[in-house]
Amino acid sequence: MELADKTVLITGAASGIGEATARACADEGAYVVVTDLNSTDGEALAEELTDGEAGAEFHRLDVTASDQFHDVVDEVSETHGIDVLINNAGTGHPSAYVEDTDDSMRDFVFDVNINGVWNGCHAVLPHMKAQGHGAIVNVGSLASIRGLPKQAAYSLSKGAVLNFTRAVAAEAGPKGVRVNAVCPGFTDTPLLEQYLAVQDDPDAAREALREGYPLKRLGEPEEIADCIIFLASDRASWVTGHGLVVDGGYATS
Ligand code: NAI
Repeated sequence: MELADKTVLITGAASGIGEATARACADEGAYVVVTDLNSTDGEALAEELTDGEAGAEFHRLDVTASDQFHDVVDEVSETHGIDVLINNAGTGHPSAYVEDTDDSMRDFVFDVNINGVWNGCHAVLPHMKAQGHGAIVNVGSLASIRGLPKQAAYSLSKGAVLNFTRAVAAEAGPKGVRVNAVCPGFTDTPLLEQYLAVQDDPDAAREALREGYPLKRLGEPEEIADCIIFLASDRASWVTGHGLVVDGGYATS
């Protein structure tokens, strides 16, 4: 068990990559703190995981609200300690050129994708530094290392996540805290469905995406979860400030 005796807090854990990661963490023996905006699915997942090896609990947490993040982290730290934070919650936006993207959409994406990750680190770092250990995994994207056309706000936000990861790794390393990112390619989740649904021909768009990958398929949430678990676990004890690209070979082909 890679995460035995560890408490893992995951944001955006009610769906997609976050949900798969929560399940995988439970399978690896972690006590899982499921958090999300979506209480219905989040509570149901935590309830299911409660019967697992170590147990689980749910907190409704909007990652854009710094005070909420601090409250949840402080409470969990007091009762269980926090060994791992997975900043997974994120959002996309409809495809649009920069000049056609309005400020409110840009701000919304930055708020969830950038401030959400900032807020998580801001809340958890004092606890991790004080205990002298911890691992943070931020969920970036292929868009952290590639500029995706008509996805400029998303690309800017995810590029920021990767460089923020490096900065925090440099700051927190001396206190025993590792900070890494995973950068997934297109992965079959509700977020991807939303992206495809607004394309002119969603089936053709999906096929075109798939064709672009050397492995000729999109990613599965469980495949991203496996890489998150590696970075969160002691197996990655000398890995920090790294952006692990998990994309079926897209970026390098
Ligand atoms: P998803 O839409 O399936 O799940 C996202 C979860 O985050 C949902 O449960 C949602 O309720 C929650 N969430 C959204 N805003 C929130 C907020 N303000 N506070 C708390 N929770 C919030 O999406 P998916 O695909 O699982 O995405 C997870 C992460 O992976 C995101 O950061 C996304 O940008 C990233 N990613 C996804 C890729 C994909 O192709 N699916 C590719 C690359 C990165």
